Amino acid sequence: MKISKRLAMIDKMVASTHHHIWDCCCDHGHLGMTLLERQAAQHIHFVDIVPSITKNLAQRLNQRFCAEQDQWQIHTLDALDIPIDQYSVEQRHLIIIAGLGGEQSLQLVQGLIEKYPNNDLQFLLCPLRHHYTLRLGLAKLSLSLVAEQLLKEQKWYYEIIHLTNYVNAVGCERIAKNPIIATGSLLWSEPNALHQEYLMQIMQHYQRVLRSLDASSEQHRLTQTMLTQYGQVLEGIN
Ligand SMILES: C[S@@+](CC[C@H](N)C(=O)[O-])C[C@H]1O[C@@H](n2cnc3c(N)ncnc32)[C@H](O)[C@@H]1O
Repeated sequence: MKISKRLAMIDKMVASTHHHIWDCCCDHGHLGMTLLERQAAQHIHFVDIVPSITKNLAQRLNQRFCAEQDQWQIHTLDALDIPIDQYSVEQRHLIIIAGLGGEQSLQLVQGLIEKYPNNDLQFLLCPLRHHYTLRLGLAKLSLSLVAEQLLKEQKWYYEIIHLTNYVNAVGCERIAKNPIIATGSLLWSEPNALHQEYLMQIMQHYQRVLRSLDASSEQHRLTQTMLTQYGQVLEGIN
């Protein structure tokens, strides 16, 4: 099926190594359907909190994927309540959260990590804003970075962040191979003109924000720090 460049990039970052893929906040369900078409996992779960969305989606899935009915499930749920505990602890889960703000994405990851400390969980996030504070929060959790990608679709830039928890199926701690850095790290590993353009846009945005803030506020201090750190990334890739 024809999907956006952003969803196509997320699809490309999904390896076929998970028992369950949860397309949380799925809305139109395009991503989950693409994953289902290529049988990316034994079970593809479509999750959305809005009943009219999941009702509509159920009709479309029943039409298009009737023969594969044992491979997909629809859940009308808050993504925080996905029933991972219904499955044995050996099963691997990929949780995709795309199209939500950074703060809400962080709350979901935090909640799921707390709820399922012994499960093998990976996350693919494509947040809409607030990447810096999202990563600051993620860095405090037992997560390690797998990959990061940047892309531009029409005039919008998107970051995709792939994470894994430290815990394997038998509950042993893994070492965090790639710690999470607030400005992004693997994101800039193969820099090109797009990366420069994006960093310049970030810097201009936060320079505007800084001017609007009370110089003695905590937000001012944080914005100044962000500008310094993004400036260092820009210098490093030039
Ligand atoms: C902007 S759409 C994103 C759709 C798709 N993931 C994408 O990236 O194109 C956001 C969707 O998230 C759903 N949503 C918001 N908060 C949610 C939550 N806590 N749990 C499940 N779904 C949620 C909304 O109902 C809406 O359908």
